Amino acid sequence: MTHYTSDIEPIVREAGALLMSYFQRRIGYEYKGDVDLVTEADRASEKFITERLRARWPEFGILGEEGTRSAMDAEYRWLVDPLDGTTNFAHGYPVFCISIALARGEELVAGFLYDPTRNEFFSAEHGAGAKLNGQAMHVSKTTRLCESLLGTGFPSHKRHKNPNIHFYHQLTLRSHGLRRAGSAALDLACVAAGRYDGFWEFNLNPWDTAAGVLLVQEAGGVVTRFDGSPFRLSSEEVLASNGILHQELMQNFAEIFAGRGLEEIPSPVEYARTRPS
Ligand code: IPD
Ligand code: CA
Ligand code: CA
Repeated sequence: MTHYTSDIEPIVREAGALLMSYFQRRIGYEYKGDVDLVTEADRASEKFITERLRARWPEFGILGEEGTRSAMDAEYRWLVDPLDGTTNFAHGYPVFCISIALARGEELVAGFLYDPTRNEFFSAEHGAGAKLNGQAMHVSKTTRLCESLLGTGFPSHKRHKNPNIHFYHQLTLRSHGLRRAGSAALDLACVAAGRYDGFWEFNLNPWDTAAGVLLVQEAGGVVTRFDGSPFRLSSEEVLASNGILHQELMQNFAEIFAGRGLEEIPSPVEYARTRPS
């Protein structure tokens, strides 16, 4: 039984059309800090979505990335990322989405994601499975890390403090490959849809993760922190997989964090020395 999907779908589809109208005009951007970009489209999408949510569910709280903080002590809270993938959007690279989740305390009640570039609406309600454009959606059946396709991402702030390039290096050599598409919410949806077998990232916010985490869980996958401890909305690190690969991924993370069994590649200096002229 689903309670929210039919009301949310027209809201995110309309917000998606709004984003596309800005995207086609190639609007400018501003800096929120470091290389963290924001556009007029992020703000317009948040305004549109929060007005519609408030009108339909006036008693629910809303936490929006672009500043909305309303009724934060309400029993039910919407977590809204009005445009996930802003850097892609600002550069005209068509990989971005809208992500909306409903939480009751720590429990994820519903998760919705809309990719207006592909007209894909992902939906999940707790206990009712996950869907893509109304059809049941499941994680992949890949059994070995060496046969997997993985995703990851890099934060747009404190970039010099982030060790993820080392994980990128190691796991790209231990899998079919790694994708860094630039929208954490869509990356999680890719795990839920069986397009990726796993995804991880450091330093995410609840509005990036909440909807995608429920999509993965309802599609039969697993989401934890890197060490296998339970994922919470306040967890910044996320490790998502089809479930079958979870143990192997966690073992790889433990080994990489311990500096054991690392795959070597030549340094640029070494490579330059032997490079064909
Ligand atoms: C970002 C994207 C990106 C991830 C960043 C997020 P935004 O969200 O999800 O993939 O690597 O950490 O901040 O700023 O585009 O909404
Ligand atoms: Ca985001
Ligand atoms: Ca955003």
